[in-house]
Amino acid sequence: MTTRDPARPTPTFAPETVLVEAARPPRANGASVNPPIELSSTFIGTTEVNDSGYAYGRFATPAWTPFEAALGELEHAALPALVFGSGLAAIAAVLALVPRGGTLVMPTHSYQGSLQSAQELAARAGFSVVSVDIADTDAVIAALDGIVTDDAAAAAGDSSGDVTEDPGAASAMLWIESPTNPMLEVADMPALIAAARARGVRVAVDNTFATPLLQTPLDLGADLVVHSVTKYLAGHSDVVLGAVITNDPTLRELLLTERSMRGAIAGPFEVWLALRGMRTLSVRLERAQANAQILAERLSDRAGVVEVRYPGLPADPGHARASKQMAGFGAIVAFTVDTAEQATAIAEAVRLWTPATSLGGVESLIERRRRHASEPSSVPEGLLRLSVGIEHVDDLWADLDAAITAATGETGDGEPAATLA
Ligand SMILES: Cc1ncc(COP(=O)(O)O)c(C=O)c1O
Repeated sequence: MTTRDPARPTPTFAPETVLVEAARPPRANGASVNPPIELSSTFIGTTEVNDSGYAYGRFATPAWTPFEAALGELEHAALPALVFGSGLAAIAAVLALVPRGGTLVMPTHSYQGSLQSAQELAARAGFSVVSVDIADTDAVIAALDGIVTDDAAAAAGDSSGDVTEDPGAASAMLWIESPTNPMLEVADMPALIAAARARGVRVAVDNTFATPLLQTPLDLGADLVVHSVTKYLAGHSDVVLGAVITNDPTLRELLLTERSMRGAIAGPFEVWLALRGMRTLSVRLERAQANAQILAERLSDRAGVVEVRYPGLPADPGHARASKQMAGFGAIVAFTVDTAEQATAIAEAVRLWTPATSLGGVESLIERRRRHASEPSSVPEGLLRLSVGIEHVDDLWADLDAAITAATGETGDGEPAATLA
C-alpha cells in the first residue's frame, strides 16, 4: 500500500522531514525523484483482484498511493489515508458510519458544510444530532452521558426510545472540530477523546485548521481524522480534495466501501498536486502562523475592531488549552466589527487580501461568514474570517488597516477618520 523502498529502514523523522521525504519512489539509478502522475482507469490482470492491488480506478489507483501513504504517516497512522474527491465527501463518508437510531454529537460552530451534511444525512438515515459548545467540556460530557443513558434505556426495552438495533457505543459519534470554523473555539481534545472512549463512543476529528503539524488526534485515541485537503495540505487554492485517516482496519474497510460504492473519488492530477503542495507545508504554515500572530495582536489594539478571536492571543478563551495541546496556534484569525455592513465594506475595500471563501492557501483571504445563509446565527453578523497567507506581514497589515479605516471611520491611532471612503 506504500511506495516506500523496503530496503530503507523505517524512518523516525520529524514531521517536517516526513513531509519532504515520504512516498518518494524507490531509489534506483535514473529513477524519478517524484511519483509520476498515473493516468489509467484500469489495470491489467487476469485474477479477480490482481496481485498489484490495482484493478479499476474507482477502487484503488497508484495515482492515490503516494499521497495516502504520506498523509497516513503524518497523522501517525499505521494505515494509509483514504483520499476523497473533496473534504465534504470525506466527511459524509465518516458521518455515514452513524447508524439508524444513533446519535451524532457535533460542535455548534463546526464548518457549516459539515453541519448541513450532518442534518441531511441524519434526516435521511434516521439518526439524531446533538449540538454542543465544544469548548464547554462538561456540557459535551453531559451530552455523551445522555446518549449512553438513552441507549441503555432502549436496550432495556423502553418503548419511548426508537432505537431498535444495536444500541450502545458504536451507534454514537462525537465530532470534534478544533479550532472551530469560524469561531476559533478550542476543544479540550485529550479530555473529550478520553471521555468518549470511556463511554465507547467513536470520535472523529476534523483536523483541517490545525494540520498534522499542530496536532495528531489519533495519538490521543481518536478513531478517525478528516481533512479538507483543499486547504493547508494542498496549500495553493488549486484543488478540491479530502481525506480520512484511521488506525482501525474495520473502519477503513467500511470507508473504502463507502468511497468505492458512492464513487466520490479524487482525480490523479489533483492528488499529485496535493502531494506536491504538501512538501512545503511546514514552511508555509510557519510563516502564515507568524503573520497571524502579529495581525491578531495589531487587530486587538485597533480602534473600530470589537473583538479578535485567535488562540495565540494570551487573552483568548482558547489560549491555555491550545498552548498545552497544539504545537502552534494556526493561521486563521476572526475579528468582529460593529455591523454586517462594515464587515462587507472591509472585504470590499482590501486590495491585497482577496475577498473569497476557503482558507489555507499561500494567499491571504478575507470573508464575512454570515454572507452564507447556512452559517449558524450565533456567528456574529460583523465577523470576518481571515485566512492569513505568507505575504509580508507589513503589506497585509497596511491593506487591512486602510480597509478598516475606510469602512468604520476609525483610524489605527484611535482617532476617528476624517472622511469615510
Ligand atoms: C474545517 C473544514 N472542514 C471541511 C471543509 C470542507 O472541505 P471541502 O471544501 O474540501 O469539501 C471545509 C471547507 O471550508 C472546512 O473549512
